[in-house]
Amino acid sequence: MMTVPAFRARKGSGQPLVVLTAYNAMTTAAAEAAGVDMLLVGDSVGMVELGYDSTLPVTMDDMVHHAKAVSRRRREALLIVDMPWLSFHVGAAAAVENAARFVREAGADGVKLEGGRNRLEVLRALVDAEIPVMGHLGLTPQSVLKMGGYKVQGRATDAAAALVEDALAITEAGVFSIVLEGIPSDLAARATSAVAVPTIGIGAGPSCDGQVLVIHDLLGMLPDAVPKFVRRYAELHATSTEAIRRWAEDVRAKKFPSNDESYG
Ligand code: KIV
Repeated sequence: MMTVPAFRARKGSGQPLVVLTAYNAMTTAAAEAAGVDMLLVGDSVGMVELGYDSTLPVTMDDMVHHAKAVSRRRREALLIVDMPWLSFHVGAAAAVENAARFVREAGADGVKLEGGRNRLEVLRALVDAEIPVMGHLGLTPQSVLKMGGYKVQGRATDAAAALVEDALAITEAGVFSIVLEGIPSDLAARATSAVAVPTIGIGAGPSCDGQVLVIHDLLGMLPDAVPKFVRRYAELHATSTEAIRRWAEDVRAKKFPSNDESYG
């Protein structure tokens, strides 16, 4: 069973960490069978499972519901749950209460939250409450309104320096790992060598200590366009659509069910 200290200790081992999002029994069963190191119940659930245009409408109850489903099928991987928008922006005490729901109700091993030096008070309160925390810097989707869209971050010299400062500050505050999303590869390399905890990249190039993808992107589960950093390893949407089309054709032609598929 993967633990937070074992995950953290992989920094510098030369063995990249494998993190994948999971939202339900099906995605968890596949990711577990493939042997991922961490299951991340991302607030991306709002976009890939709940049909929203952003992660902003996702609630604590949504996250608890999906985290419980993942937890029921989890066997070996670390289980980390995303703190949704406004679950940690309204004060450290509320953030601890919210994070504790993931631990108590869904058996989570820790939480992830977006932000840098602006979230130090919350990060420290969570760590003080014995809740392991993963940071998330760069293209932080909960800041979509402020960023004016999903754009690569940290291209300007001062923004790049600020990101490295954020990475150092949240490491100091006690995060056990940091997601680096949507930043140039050389900046991800700089941040990775600056901090003592593993960095997990998504759209951040090959120098991070591990990689994460949204499972729907990796498996082609939706027909939507995907960002440049995604590599598709399957086309499940096309495969599913074709299977359903064949079944519907058989039903309409009265070829399904056969006697073999019926009770005598
Ligand atoms: O919400 C999410 O799925 C995430 C990962 C993509 C890192 O934050």
